[in-house]
Amino acid sequence: MKTKRKVRVVLVPYPFQGHITPMLQLGTILHSKGFSITIAHTNFNSPLPSIHPQFTFLPLPDKLDGFDTSFYNILNAVSVMNTNCEAPFEEYLVGMMEEEELLACVIYDSIMTFVDVVALRLGIPTMVLRTTTAAYMHSHILMFRLLAHKLLPLPDESQLHATIPKAYPLRFKDLPLDATKEIPKAVLDFIHSYTDIRSSSGVIWNTVDKLDSWPLQQLQRNSPAVPFFPIGPLHKMAPTSTTSLIEEDTNCMSWLDRKAPNSVVYVSLGSLATIDEKELIEMARGLAKSEQPFLWVVRPSLLSGTDDAMGSLPEDFKEVIGDRGLVVKWAPQKKVLAHPAVGGFFTHCGWNSSLESICEGVPLICRPCFADQTVNARYITHVWKIGIELEINNNNSNKNNCLEKRIERAVRTLMVSEQGKEMKKRAIEMKVEVERSMEIGGSSCQSLDHLVEFIISLSR
Ligand code: UDX
Repeated sequence: MKTKRKVRVVLVPYPFQGHITPMLQLGTILHSKGFSITIAHTNFNSPLPSIHPQFTFLPLPDKLDGFDTSFYNILNAVSVMNTNCEAPFEEYLVGMMEEEELLACVIYDSIMTFVDVVALRLGIPTMVLRTTTAAYMHSHILMFRLLAHKLLPLPDESQLHATIPKAYPLRFKDLPLDATKEIPKAVLDFIHSYTDIRSSSGVIWNTVDKLDSWPLQQLQRNSPAVPFFPIGPLHKMAPTSTTSLIEEDTNCMSWLDRKAPNSVVYVSLGSLATIDEKELIEMARGLAKSEQPFLWVVRPSLLSGTDDAMGSLPEDFKEVIGDRGLVVKWAPQKKVLAHPAVGGFFTHCGWNSSLESICEGVPLICRPCFADQTVNARYITHVWKIGIELEINNNNSNKNNCLEKRIERAVRTLMVSEQGKEMKKRAIEMKVEVERSMEIGGSSCQSLDHLVEFIISLSR
């Protein structure tokens, strides 16, 4: 960095694991480039300052204590957050502007709309960090276009599997919201607000140009004056300490050490997705019957309505699987995926998980749940061709096609079939491509250089 005075960047994450992680990773990258970093965060799901001594932490009193922050009430929780964080954030920025250090900009998750309001008032530049792919953001444009042409909601469910015209590989069922239902105005307003970059000076993407280039180009065409910086995969661009909000069970690493290379399927549905008890039990039976070794993250909140999902596993499960399977509450996922014993990932296709898997050349079984996961799953299975999709809501009542059987077959296909080997080969090729993007002259490396120059230019 060529400026003499230190330059500070303030980062404001949306307080959920899949969003906090990339923001902290971005902080680490920018810190390694010489910037001072402040993380302005809600008290709810606060990151642990002791793990990141290089950052300054600014807690924002969100008044969410006792508030329902579950997925089903999330719009209300976001509204409370945005209302309550505005004044303390403004007070803090005003204080900072009087200090010796230059304040270059605030980088924020676009769900935290209060940032734009405050920054505009104070004349401080902002940038948005996109924690998903451009393909997912582009799917919103498709959805709004279909709504404008009154092509949504679909008349009935039979069209859900049809490909959206000129939008391969996406089907109507992959759109961000249920294509058969009227979308409530509050939800549409939220989506509009989320996709809007407002007064941002630039957009930073945790994606890789090679993986996401067509959607990136489409979105850039819509905002030609706003520079895009696709600098992913963030977790590989700078070494980061753990960003987990939940304690990691590291014992699984020595268990993996005892397994043969490429033999274990790692199973995790991320930090937010929930399933019902029937699916949990079918997963258990399918994994057991696959006869492949597996490491399964059964997060306490994985089962809707309880905080002890493990308690609902079949009674004989441990006995049946013996040492072939291991169940943990939360794993050091990046290390797990990088372990030579892991040969496949049964995932909900959250973008962090997908990218972490791609970076280790691990092919996937896709069980998307919501948000960007359906779009990610389509790209994994139909564009990058490094995974297979597991249909959950399959109405076929044939006993040989029940979920348990489909899981058993999917695991075997991924782990021991020729088709699985082909996917593994492509996943390794993709890993190499992503590594190239991070080398000097590679797309992400160049983009990061431009981003550093751009942030410095904002501080003048
Ligand atoms: C949410 C949305 O579900 C996702 O679709 C969106 O892309 C980001 O926000 P989440 O469900 O948390 O994310 O999934 P994901 O994006 O995959 O992030 C999960 C993170 O938790 C990953 O970084 C993963 O490494 C970590 N993790 C998960 C662990 O460290 N241990 C685990 O046991 C499971």
